[in-house]
Amino acid sequence: MSRISSLKFSLRGLMAGLGAGLLAMSLAGCGERPPIETKQLGYRGTGMEQNVNPRLEAVKQAANQAPASSEAASPDGPKASEVYQNVKILGHLSVAEFSRNMAAITAWVSPQEGCTYCHVANNFADDSKYTKIVARRMIEMTQHVNQDWQKHVAATGVTCYTCHRGNPVPANVWYKPADRKYTENSLMGDLAGQNYASKSVGLSSLPFDPFTPYLLEDKPIRVNGDEALRFTGAAANNKSTKQAEHTYALMMHMSQGLGVNCVTCHNTRNWQEWTNNPPQRVTAWYGIRMARDLNNAYMVPLTETFPANRKGVHGDVAKVNCLTCHQGVQKPLYGAAMAKNYPELLAPYKAANDGLPAPLAEAMRSVMYFAVGSVTLEGEQAKGLTQLVASMTADQGITATISGYHSASGELASNQELAKQRAFTVRDSLLAAGVAPGRVVLEKPLQAEANLAVEDPAARRVEVSVK
Ligand code: HEC
Ligand code: HEC
Ligand code: HEC
Ligand code: HEC
Repeated sequence: MSRISSLKFSLRGLMAGLGAGLLAMSLAGCGERPPIETKQLGYRGTGMEQNVNPRLEAVKQAANQAPASSEAASPDGPKASEVYQNVKILGHLSVAEFSRNMAAITAWVSPQEGCTYCHVANNFADDSKYTKIVARRMIEMTQHVNQDWQKHVAATGVTCYTCHRGNPVPANVWYKPADRKYTENSLMGDLAGQNYASKSVGLSSLPFDPFTPYLLEDKPIRVNGDEALRFTGAAANNKSTKQAEHTYALMMHMSQGLGVNCVTCHNTRNWQEWTNNPPQRVTAWYGIRMARDLNNAYMVPLTETFPANRKGVHGDVAKVNCLTCHQGVQKPLYGAAMAKNYPELLAPYKAANDGLPAPLAEAMRSVMYFAVGSVTLEGEQAKGLTQLVASMTADQGITATISGYHSASGELASNQELAKQRAFTVRDSLLAAGVAPGRVVLEKPLQAEANLAVEDPAARRVEVSVK
């Protein structure tokens, strides 16, 4: 009897020890030391919540701070195009603005190596270093993102720093991975790119290249067909398991890239449906298209420009995915709006009168448009003014109310001054043409900033209402 009870006793001790061991092991497997906090994202009961470890979050925050922007340079003085020999895209900047840009890109891309990372030391006009050719294209790429992908980057935008963070090669880029087989010369063929715990998909054994099909090619990101129980014909429900695995692999990358879980974009009771999803899913949808566009329109065409040591095993260039900009944070650099301090990176420069809408000369209303930074009416726009003067002279009984507007690009105080000067231009022209001062009224509009962000030719205008 006593023997049995002592056996029982030691068994119990063994179980307890094992239990404690298992608990420790399972916690070690979590990889994160508590505390973990949960943040509710969706409605009560939907189970939509984000797990946050404040200790890890603090480390991430410290690593993702935007550097301070240097002070704006004076737009006055000779233009870069007048002083330098080989400027193709930034010639419209003043020499001071141009130098500020060069200093900034050096700090963002090659702070260790300095100017000569892109330039031949004794001849800055020389284009023989590939890095300079790439950098010129990168400036255009950055302008393109900020101008044409606002549905993703909003007014926050990007600079070289968003991706580069002080490194010539951004820390997170992707190449087509080497083909992998079960074993050399295996009859079992290849692995359909999976069954290796891979970092690109959060150490899962999902397909480790979700990028080629979705961020370079345009394969459907789907796990379900949109019709049930139909196996033939165009609408066949033939979405394969393989396709589903690739879709999940991309989703793992997107979650990791942003440091979030699936419910940041999905209401997980139905992955496919859009109506009850957080708005972030729509932003992500544009993000996928944007990454694909940057890879196809900018990176791939630079393949011949890059030296062999910058290419992958298949000879392809380094490419962009979500991690390249986001680096594990839901909004890159926690949404710091650096780009607006570097207006030359917001949109490609358009020559002065380019792209201005035609002036309007209606019975009750005239509208005339101005070039960037300008208070004079040139070309077509001057004809709009001539027409206004003609109708004011023809009918002595009418008065003109004049309001000036400006675009959102640049500094607000100087823009407001521009808008005022533009209204003065039109007033002074009417007075000079002999219109009596009593028939000309200046009216400051309630909202002189006529668009939300960057340059918009339609925003830089004077409106005249005639009664
Ligand atoms: C990351 C690459 C890169 C770095 C680093 C860089 N530049 Fe440049 N630089 C360019 C590119 C690209 C152009 C051409 C711009 C254009 O075509 O509008 C250029 C043009 C110039 C020119 C005009 C030369 C001419 O006569 O055509 C000068 C001057 C210049 N850079 C100065 C500097 C200085 C000074 C530094 C260091 C503080 C620097 N750059 C660092 C990429 C770089
Ligand atoms: C969306 C991300 C992104 C942005 C924004 C970006 N780059 Fe890049 N850049 C890349 C990628 C990806 C590569 C390819 C990496 C490589 O060199 O193999 C690259 C490569 C380069 C290289 C070649 C470096 C080398 O050693 O091979 C230069 C120079 C460069 N970028 C300059 C710039 C400048 C200047 C800007 C800002 C005007 C900029 N980049 C903005 C992603 C970006
Ligand atoms: C950053 C936002 C975001 C995150 C995080 C995210 N998804 Fe998605 N998901 C999307 C978008 C956008 C689509 C649609 C893509 C398209 O159609 O181009 C999608 C599509 C899907 C689909 C395909 C639905 C269909 O129509 O067949 C599945 C399944 C899916 N996601 C699962 C997941 C899982 C599982 C996770 C977490 C591991 C996750 N998603 C994380 C944005 C996200
Ligand atoms: C060129 C850099 C860049 C790339 C590449 C990029 N993003 Fe973004 N993304 C941004 C910026 C900048 C913002 C912040 C916009 C804002 O302030 O609203 C953002 C915002 C988002 C948001 C909204 C976050 C929120 O809480 O509102 C989502 C979701 C997102 N990105 C998903 C993705 C996904 C998924 C990918 C890859 C398919 C991707 N992004 C690739 C730059 C990028």
